This record gives sequence, C-alpha cells and structure tokens, in this order.
Amino acid sequence: MAKRVLIISGSSTGIGLEAAKDFCHKNYRVWAGVRSQSDFDQLALIPDIEPLILDITKAEHLRALEARLQDQSSQISSLNLINNAGIVYSSPWELQDIEELKHQFEVNFFGAIRLTQICLPLIRKTRGRIIDISSISGRFASPFLGPYASSKFALDAFSDSLRRELRPTGVKVVSINPGPIRTPLWQKRLGKMMDWEKIESFSPDLKTAYYSGLSRFYKRIEDSAKKAEPVEIVLRALHKALLSKNPPPRIYVGRGVASFSRLQHWIPERLLDSLVEKLI
Ligand SMILES: NC(=O)c1ccc[n+]([C@@H]2O[C@H](COP(=O)([O-])OP(=O)(O)OC[C@H]3O[C@@H](n4cnc5c(N)ncnc54)[C@H](OP(=O)(O)O)[C@@H]3O)[C@@H](O)[C@H]2O)c1
Repeated sequence: MAKRVLIISGSSTGIGLEAAKDFCHKNYRVWAGVRSQSDFDQLALIPDIEPLILDITKAEHLRALEARLQDQSSQISSLNLINNAGIVYSSPWELQDIEELKHQFEVNFFGAIRLTQICLPLIRKTRGRIIDISSISGRFASPFLGPYASSKFALDAFSDSLRRELRPTGVKVVSINPGPIRTPLWQKRLGKMMDWEKIESFSPDLKTAYYSGLSRFYKRIEDSAKKAEPVEIVLRALHKALLSKNPPPRIYVGRGVASFSRLQHWIPERLLDSLVEKLI
C-alpha cells in the first residue's frame, strides 16, 4: 500500500528525534536522518521509523537518498520534508573564523537547499509539504550570534521565496521560528558559545571592544538555556504545519516570540539598537 513519507533531517536528538517519534504515530512512515551508526541502531528499534544515514553536507549521502526516492517513488502517496538539522556558531564578527562560518552555512543553509532539491520532484508530484525549522534568530540578529543568525536569515529567505515559487503547484512551504527550546543543542554548543578562556586571553584592545558585551551575552545565553521551553510546543507547530488544511506560512513558537518579532519593525532602529545594547 502507498504510504505517506516524512523525511526529517537531524533526527538523532532534540526536535528532530521528538518529531520522528511523534509523526510515526500519525500515519507517517518517518525517514529519520542521522549521522552515526549508533543513532541509526537506536531509531531502527522504533516501528514505523526508517533511519537513514544522512549528513546533509555529504554528497554521497544525498545521492543515496535520491536513489532511494527514485526506487520507492511508486510506493509513496505523499512525500513531506522537515529541514531540521542545524548547528550554532557564535562569535564577534571581527574574530569569526571563515571556515567555521562556511560550515555554519553548509549545514543550516546549503544542506537544507540540497535536501529540498532532491525531494522536490516527488513532493511536487504528490503535493507534499516542506517545513523549514528556522529560529527567532532568522528574524532578529543578536550581537555575537551573527554566524547563526545569518544562516537562519538566509534559510528564511529561501523558505519565503520557495513558498512563493511553489504556490501555483499547491505545495505548501512553512517556516517555523522558535525561541529557546529545551533540547541537547544547548549542552552541545554552550561550551563553544561561551568561551571564557578565549575572552580572558584577548589583547587589551579586544577586551575594551568586546569583554563587557560578550560577558552579558554569555549571561543571556545561560538565562535562555534555563528558560528554554519544552519541545512539545514545536511539535504543536509541526502538527499545524503538516496536518492542517491551510497552514500559515510562518509559525512563531515560544513565549513572546511572535510579538517581539513583529514589534521590532515598529521600533525605530536606533532605539532598538540602544535597547539591545542595554539588554544584551
Ligand atoms: N533548541 C533551540 O533553542 C532552538 C531554537 C530555535 C531553532 N532551533 C533549531 O531547531 C533545529 C533542531 O535543533 P535542536 O534544538 O533539536 O538541536 P539538536 O538536538 O542539537 O539537534 C540538531 C540535529 O542536527 C543534526 N546535525 C548537525 N549537523 C548535521 C549535518 N551536517 N547533517 C545532518 N544533521 C546534522 C544533529 O546531529 P548530530 O547529533 O549527529 O550532531 C542533530 O540531530 C535546528 O535547526 C536549530 O537551529 C533550535
């Protein structure tokens, strides 16, 4: 019997894992992308989840997925995609390593585009949906979070223009923009995001420029990690995006996230910058 397939990139932990576990009970066959054999083996134990080794920066993994889709296309009644895989780099721009920045974009932006390109012919044919997991950082660029925010702004632009391109075909594209969510992302990245040793070793010049701002930023990151909201609120947004007849183009997730995102455009930028300087 033909099946509804949902491909989710980055299903080893966090939002991707919880979405895979949730949608396999909602009459979807979930193809859950992971990068390691141990994550693959864990997911293979769950009925209706088919794990696949998928590093979205690796051409051979994407080619294997493309071949699998071609092979199984006649058994798929509807193909849907959640572009979820993501990583975070943060740094003052002056010190941002360009190779790290490229990696940031390889995962959060180019990887999502390549994966979408591979899935799109069958998504279009079966009138499936594309969901992009962006962030509030795709709408508001905080100081010191520029690398991540740039990649998510780019993802949002991709999502917006793709949605408009595909409108005549009936394929719906939804961007989800969460605030802080309680997932392993924070544990994985906090060490990298808050490098006290690095800032202690700054030259006097760099210390004058960044020490106080970065210290406040690190504190804010810690607060955000503590106040992060449960992953279930993202699952609710995913339900809306995938299951409702007419999903909204964008879903903000988290306390105050929608109002903040909208309000920032009403505040004069000079005022917004001074508020951000005080708050961050
Ligand atoms: N948590 C938040 O506060 C928050 C807020 C807004 C938006 N988001 C977004 O939500 C998405 C999911 O994040 P999360 O919070 O659930 O974090 P997470 O638990 O760290 O999950 C990230 C997933 O991405 C995978 N990944 C990393 N690099 C990859 C690559 N090259 N190819 C394929 N997969 C890769 C990771 O796999 P490995 O385990 O193998 O590294 C992991 O499965 C991300 O796009 C993130 O930006 C998160």
